[in-house]
Amino acid sequence: MLDTLNTIDETARTALSAADSVDAIKAWYNAHLGKASELQGILGSMGTLSKEDRPIVGKNGNRIKRELQAAYDARLVELKQAEMVSKLSAEALDVTLPGRPIKRGRLHVSTQILNEIYAIWADMGFQIYRSRDVETDEYNFQLLNFPVGHPARDMQDTFHTTEKDVILRTHTSPGQVHAMREFYPEPIRVILPGMCYRYEQITSRSEVQFHQVEGLAIGTDLTFANLKGTIADFARRMFGKDVRTRFRASHFPFTEPSAEVDVECFICGGKGCTVCKYAGWLEIMGCGMVHPNVLRNGGYDPEIYTGFAFGMGPERIAMLKYGIKDIRYFWGNDMRFLEQF
Ligand code: PHE
Repeated sequence: MLDTLNTIDETARTALSAADSVDAIKAWYNAHLGKASELQGILGSMGTLSKEDRPIVGKNGNRIKRELQAAYDARLVELKQAEMVSKLSAEALDVTLPGRPIKRGRLHVSTQILNEIYAIWADMGFQIYRSRDVETDEYNFQLLNFPVGHPARDMQDTFHTTEKDVILRTHTSPGQVHAMREFYPEPIRVILPGMCYRYEQITSRSEVQFHQVEGLAIGTDLTFANLKGTIADFARRMFGKDVRTRFRASHFPFTEPSAEVDVECFICGGKGCTVCKYAGWLEIMGCGMVHPNVLRNGGYDPEIYTGFAFGMGPERIAMLKYGIKDIRYFWGNDMRFLEQF
């Protein structure tokens, strides 16, 4: 009987040292110490043993059971420890590593300038009025006093769509008529910002697409002095109080009288460069008193109402402010340019 017990003991110990995981050692327990194990079977049938065997089994069987239990307990702790260590090293997190940098986007330089322009006009009481990019010939030209076939149309080379008389707007001025028709008979003080398109040769100072910010004020007592004062004030707020501006008599079919506004060219310091066409001054807007025909087209009686309008180029303003030498950079999508602002 002692031999049987010793064999059970040896077999169990060999199997225990071969068990290399918590799952394996639990299976081992069921096989060697569980209710259905051989050892428990022998210990549970003491009553049927012979007189000589009974004390041998009682003494050795219980000793073997205790020792195997102790070996199992020790091995279980060991295996659990080992599993924890390997899990920890597999899931290791090095909290001292630097984080991944987050790429920050930014607003396009034109958007930044537009926001500045909006803020200045908002301070002066002008609301933003949005108007569409795709226009009809009627709004873009006819209602602004450019009749069909009139030579003044040559000033604005136009993109035509495949639909008859539907074009990309060449300026934001058509918005004037949309605003007047919407607000009549109220007085108006709005700016109309947006993208404009011209089928032009691309040079350092002209692009096929560019922003404009149109302005329109309609009232019963507005004069050219109001126009001049308002624009000079805008220039001071935009470029600083010492900036020099000049008004040059000009012509637009939809304003009378008309003027162009120049700011001294900061790019060359007034010495002359390709951007200012060697004039030392850069034109930033056209302006004038709203032509009676345009007032009438908007529904306002020119005998009662007067108004002034202006249209400025935000990219030109950004060029002056930041010393940008070529307008083509704006839509060239070169990160080296865009990241500077
Ligand atoms: N629309 C004109 C242009 O694009 C600018 C302008 C606007 C002139 C309003 C006078 C009044 O050249």
